[in-house]
Amino acid sequence: MVFASASTYFLVIFCVSFSYAANTCPSGYPEKGVAVDKEDIDKMQFAVNLEFLEAEYFLWATNGYGLDVVAPKLAMGGPPPIGVRKANLDPLTKNIITEFANQEVGHLRALNSTVGVFPRPLLDLSAKNFGKLFDEAFGRKLVPPFDPYRDSLSYMLSSYVIPYVGLVGYVGTNPNINGYVTKRLLAGLLGVESGQDAVIRMYLYERATQIVFPYTYTVADFTSRISELRNKLAKCGNKDEGIFVPPQVGAENRTISNVLSADFNSISYKRTPAEILRIVYNSGDERVPGGFYPNGANGKIATDFLKQP
Ligand SMILES: *[C@@H]1O[C@H](CO)[C@@H](O)[C@H](O)[C@H]1NC(C)=O
Ligand SMILES: *[C@@H]1O[C@H](CO)[C@@H](O)[C@H](O)[C@H]1NC(C)=O
Repeated sequence: MVFASASTYFLVIFCVSFSYAANTCPSGYPEKGVAVDKEDIDKMQFAVNLEFLEAEYFLWATNGYGLDVVAPKLAMGGPPPIGVRKANLDPLTKNIITEFANQEVGHLRALNSTVGVFPRPLLDLSAKNFGKLFDEAFGRKLVPPFDPYRDSLSYMLSSYVIPYVGLVGYVGTNPNINGYVTKRLLAGLLGVESGQDAVIRMYLYERATQIVFPYTYTVADFTSRISELRNKLAKCGNKDEGIFVPPQVGAENRTISNVLSADFNSISYKRTPAEILRIVYNSGDERVPGGFYPNGANGKIATDFLKQP
């Protein structure tokens, strides 16, 4: 009896594990519906502009070279970035940015295989361009000009500018996507972009009260100023917050700590492509290129704006 039930028990275990083995990892995709809708393509490709920016900025900072060495085919013959270089990073920061850099290569590859990529747009990643952006954020000329490549803290402050724009862009794109494979890609990209943003914010949060050498402003001041500038450029209200906020902006009105930027219900803010272009062009106008994209971004959405009067 004991033996019989034991062997029955093992038989059950065997059958259960066999059926697990046979069917343990289904795709999880719906049985009906479109994998990648034609209408998804331009919307997802818009993000390729930001992924190129991140890939080049992070790769160069850690390696002293970028996509043209690491994954030349992904650049699709687009011109090399202007003024980008290796940053002076300590080992911790270098490890973080090396990981981010490699993640961006994966993001471009995944976008390429799902919706296709276009040639890398011309990117201006010069210290001069960042310096101009930071001067605008503070409403005065920083002396000496802000140089993101100077040291780890400067580099992380400059990085505060980037994945967040991708994050709010993906949140904004999500409701307009139809295909289930496209949605799965978008969620996966959003997850990692927000993770990168959180790591950068946490890094800065841990140093919030530190004065940023050689200036008189704290790390927290820098984050608020950059967030304010982005809100101003995008022209659509408050969707971007520094690492400290007045209580009425903090989670449930109960914190001034703002390690993550989120809305009234602690839901991530969203932005449209036009808002994003106003920020990354640093022109406040999606029809006027500049900033990180001296000749404008690529793909149908961005180039349609450029054709408008
Ligand atoms: C990009 O996608 C195309 C089409 O799927 C593929 O032929 C090409 O090899 C991909 N490029 C890279 C660098 O993965
Ligand atoms: C937070 O404060 C604002 C006014 O400053 C108010 O409108 C809102 O209801 C408050 N939110 C919560 C969750 O209490």
